[in-house]
Amino acid sequence: MDSQSHYFDEEPDVLSRKSTVDLVLPDITTTLTTDKGVFSSQRVDSGTNYLLQNAPIPKTVIKSALDLGCGYGPIARTLVHRFPEANIFAIDVNLRALSLAEENLGDLGVSVLHPDSVDRNLQFDLIWSNPPIRIGKSKLYDLLETWLSRLTTHGEAILVVQKHLGADSLSGWLNKNEFQAEKLSSKSGYRLIKVTKK
Ligand SMILES: C[S@@+](CC[C@H](N)C(=O)[O-])C[C@H]1O[C@@H](n2cnc3c(N)ncnc32)[C@H](O)[C@@H]1O
Repeated sequence: MDSQSHYFDEEPDVLSRKSTVDLVLPDITTTLTTDKGVFSSQRVDSGTNYLLQNAPIPKTVIKSALDLGCGYGPIARTLVHRFPEANIFAIDVNLRALSLAEENLGDLGVSVLHPDSVDRNLQFDLIWSNPPIRIGKSKLYDLLETWLSRLTTHGEAILVVQKHLGADSLSGWLNKNEFQAEKLSSKSGYRLIKVTKK
């Protein structure tokens, strides 16, 4: 991606060049289509991989789950595998990412949507996200406030955030607002944060 382009642009201006990446986890191995102009197009991001290796499986029944900022879909793909009974949603603003996610997930029953198209009344028992830290603090906080407030009363979100990109200040902000943030684990500069509503 050149210096003018961002993985969160609605319409990436880098030329499309599709390729594939392998998602390899203890419980699922699969190949996903990716492209230039989307986040971590060469390989599954190490933060995403950390989340998928370490996110706890909730004890409650998961009827609806959201991959917030899905990119080409590695998190949603894993949610489908781990929660086969749930309605899975995958949202992103990058239209190229949405098209890839549709290609990778559409046949599996995942609802791949632009955030503006999600039914306002929907709530989620589970949200997993490698959030777009690079959009800037104020936009990020707005984004998290919007979607985390749509957790059900017993719902939980698991976020992976790099320590040097503000994981601790994000937790502090969440705790000062209507959420409870708990550090679940930390490794190689990544933090896994569990968020519930107060
Ligand atoms: C760090 S990337 C993670 C992508 C993917 N989940 C993965 O693990 O490879 C964050 C994603 O959030 C998306 N994003 C940025 N702003 C967003 C917004 N307002 N609503 C939804 N997604 C957004 C970006 O386009 C990007 O694909």
